[in-house]
Amino acid sequence: MSAVIRAENISKTFAEGPLHVDVLKDINLVVEQGERVAIVGASGAGKSTLLHLLAGLDTPTGGRVLVADQDLAGLNERQKGRLRNEMLGFVYQFHHLLPEFTALENVAMPLLIARMAPRSAAEEAREMLRRVGLADRAAHKPAELSGGERQRVAIARAVVHRPRCVLADEPTGNLDSHNAHAAFALLLELNQSLGTSLVLVTHDRMLAAAMDRVGTIEDGVLTG
Ligand SMILES: Nc1ncnc2c1ncn2[C@@H]1O[C@H](COP(=O)(O)OP(=O)(O)OP(=O)(O)O)[C@@H](O)[C@H]1O
Ligand SMILES: [Mg+2]
Repeated sequence: MSAVIRAENISKTFAEGPLHVDVLKDINLVVEQGERVAIVGASGAGKSTLLHLLAGLDTPTGGRVLVADQDLAGLNERQKGRLRNEMLGFVYQFHHLLPEFTALENVAMPLLIARMAPRSAAEEAREMLRRVGLADRAAHKPAELSGGERQRVAIARAVVHRPRCVLADEPTGNLDSHNAHAAFALLLELNQSLGTSLVLVTHDRMLAAAMDRVGTIEDGVLTG
């Protein structure tokens, strides 16, 4: 099995004026197809930063990231966007749904970007909403959904195009335990039924322990 994501010696320094923060130092991480990796660490340790680098949403200061064997540094923004849309799904720490669109339209978006016909995209999105238990909320806008429902829409959007890897940044962080469990179970089910790799940032040690592997970020270094 080939690696879906390969991070080689990546580092990230934020330097703005006198501020100079070495957030990540010489990180190596390989995510194999179907593998489930948890990333844990204290607040401010660099977990979100790492996920953004893996998805090509931010650029490392040093080292390189390969997605499906393609070096992100060799791609322009457009090519990166296409690769991301094809290979990756991203669940943000704060849900990031488009407020003026319905749940159905939000979930259909990755398919429309990939140029699927609108009718098929709507059908697929509806089916995915059904899988996350929100068939009857398809016409609701994000403001008309509960926090847990919004997060389930965000998960549906992240997986609707059958990506090879889902990067999820605390997808259960703002949910009560019932909704958190449901969201996590959904990600695991998709991992199993679609063979989607999963990189999950979490503060929850129990969730982390249910993954294949746990990486810990401390003082900018990833271990485990
Ligand atoms: N754009 C930026 N400019 C300067 N510093 C930044 C920037 N983004 C993040 N940082 C700093 O990098 C460090 C890591 O941030 P990051 O968001 O990756 O942490 P985290 O591990 O996800 O924390 P949390 O668990 O609270 O979400 C923090 O100290 C933060 O202040
Ligand atoms: Mg974070």
